[in-house]
Amino acid sequence: MARSYAVVTRTALAACIIAVLAPAKAVAQEATPVMEYRQTIMSSLGTHRGALTAILNEDVPHEGHVLGHALSLQQLSVMASDIFPEGSLGEGSRALPDIWDDAAGFGEALSAFQSAADALAEAARAGDMTAVGDAAAGLGRTCGGCHRPYRARPTG
Ligand code: HEC
Repeated sequence: MARSYAVVTRTALAACIIAVLAPAKAVAQEATPVMEYRQTIMSSLGTHRGALTAILNEDVPHEGHVLGHALSLQQLSVMASDIFPEGSLGEGSRALPDIWDDAAGFGEALSAFQSAADALAEAARAGDMTAVGDAAAGLGRTCGGCHRPYRARPTG
């Protein structure tokens, strides 16, 4: 009798522990809208950067689009300040915990990127294609400057 009571207690205790731990784990691993929104902003950065590169390489003749892409990149760089709320990790995210554990370093990477996007917009407004090329290369370095320390390598 005493023995089966102990078993029941142990089972109940285990169930409680699972009930407490399981949801927390599920929340941490699930893909979330916040995370997917961040990836959408990042993809948009990649898209505008790719389009700008095609123009600068003269693969396409749309020099008139340079300002539009540069201003889009600048706008997206401002939005980037809002897309890394604490704890916004989830399944499919390549964001690394150091974004929050090393907030000062991450903040520096973010502001270097925003300054580079401002410089690109300024060069595009001035219509100076050599300066645009230099600024686009500078911006590209700041993408890598954040990805290297704060983004995990792709899995699989
Ligand atoms: C301040 C940090 C930071 C900067 C600057 C930054 N990124 Fe990212 N980027 C990230 C992180 C972190 C991820 C992973 C996000 C995730 O999976 O939750 C990412 C993901 C991406 C992705 C993959 C998106 C997807 O669909 O999974 C692309 C593309 C990308 N970045 C392009 C760029 C480009 C282009 C620039 C520069 C113009 C840039 N990023 C600047 C941090 C940054």
